Amino acid sequence: NKRTKIKVLLESDQANYETTVMGWVRTFRNNQFIALNDGSTNNNLQVVAALGLLDDATIKRITTGACIKATGTVIESLGKGQKVELQATVIEILGDSDAEKFPLQPKKHSLEFLREVAHLRFRTNTFGAIFRVRHSLAFAVHQFFNDRGFVYMHTPIITGSDAEGAGEMFKVTTLPLDGTAPKNDDGSINFKEDFFGKSTNLTVSGQLEGELAAMAFSDIYTFGPTFRAENSNTTRHLAEFWMIEPEVAFNDLEDNMNLAEDFIKYIIKYAMDHNADDLAFLAQRLEEEEKQKPQNERSEMGLIDKLKFVVENNFERLTYTEAIEILKESNHNKKKKFQYLVEGWGVDLQSEHERYLVEKHFKKPVILTDYPKDIKAFYMRQNDDGKTVAAMDILAPGIGEIVGGSQREERLDKLVQRMEEMHIPTEEMNFYLDTRRFGACPHAGFGLGFERLVLFVTGMTNIRDVIPFPRYPKSAAF
Ligand code: 4AD
Ligand code: MG
Repeated sequence: NKRTKIKVLLESDQANYETTVMGWVRTFRNNQFIALNDGSTNNNLQVVAALGLLDDATIKRITTGACIKATGTVIESLGKGQKVELQATVIEILGDSDAEKFPLQPKKHSLEFLREVAHLRFRTNTFGAIFRVRHSLAFAVHQFFNDRGFVYMHTPIITGSDAEGAGEMFKVTTLPLDGTAPKNDDGSINFKEDFFGKSTNLTVSGQLEGELAAMAFSDIYTFGPTFRAENSNTTRHLAEFWMIEPEVAFNDLEDNMNLAEDFIKYIIKYAMDHNADDLAFLAQRLEEEEKQKPQNERSEMGLIDKLKFVVENNFERLTYTEAIEILKESNHNKKKKFQYLVEGWGVDLQSEHERYLVEKHFKKPVILTDYPKDIKAFYMRQNDDGKTVAAMDILAPGIGEIVGGSQREERLDKLVQRMEEMHIPTEEMNFYLDTRRFGACPHAGFGLGFERLVLFVTGMTNIRDVIPFPRYPKSAAF
């Protein structure tokens, strides 16, 4: 089973050698020319069947979507658009694809429709490019942290704690759902002891477990699936998404911001260096999409320029309080003033406010710090003003929040007090609080929503289109 990947074959300067390729037929013209794709690139290899090589029965079986194996000689191509082609001497059908039942027509399909044909979605140029870029970004995540001596830590998917305290968890249960499960007085199932006697859910974040590891390895990161049971039908939320969460002992908020900014720039640059073809394809796709919009809604920069800009410029850093001042002063929308003018300091930012700051005011990624403590999680370090915490959110143009993080509250008394104020049961959290009892130290970390980053880098609009198998309320394909 020696085969050459089509990308390698097309990019090599060599010709006049014998090889084998395998892949799926995109088109078949004149009973002779096969455009073959194996997913290594969006560029197809032209496989030429010499006249007389194929009998009528075989010709009928070379249909769009069929899987074939072709052996022959790589020669310089006379046709335009490709340097080389394969002059086939043997063509074998590995898997038929019934032309009458094949769900994809040679026209453009909507992204929504493609979500329903999960197996063929991968074979389109758009999703080919997206998932190769996604792969590179994931690889770059490991490269970045490995180069800096971080330990990759696998945190549990089944857990008893609600790391964000937001109550957006999916329950995990071993209880029989046939009516024999233990019941509460009101007849409902007693889910308190659903996991062999313990209450558990799917993780919303690996942070708390990550903090335990950072208190031993100093620098760690997690990269795994996380789950949120929010019924959010938006283009930015998934029920299952991947998150990267570094946690670093001895770092303060500024170190944390520097790490996050370096990290984001590094992985974007990595994709630009290693996926130039796919990004060019996606840039072209975006440009066509932009042309459908009215002039005043089109983005000023193309995808590649936008990515270059982010990699080459500093993110803007300011406090939540400063951001509120900017929003108050902006006469951005005279008819419908921002909510702040009514509600004032202390409220959470809505996406329209974030977008104003990032897209209209600063026109670059923004790091907002020092949020009011009442709109942030219990574990964030309390600032001396008694009102704010050492939080940081990174907002990206066109996306909004891509990172949430903070310096952590390492002082046991302050942490316990805050948990009590927020009605978080401390007795169940001793596994976590013990880090503050035995050799606590200042530390900080953040979580990057991987799909939000992939969304940003690929220029796609819906987060469902940048994960291979999206899970959201009423997901089409499972
Ligand atoms: O801001 P969040 O909730 O922060 C945490 O979970 C912290 N424990 C992270 C940490 O400090 N270690 O989530 C972090 C990021 C968000 O900024 C966003 O990019 C992404 O995760 N995110 C989602 N992405 C897709 N779908 C959802 N439902 C998401 N919820 C959060
Ligand atoms: Mg957040």
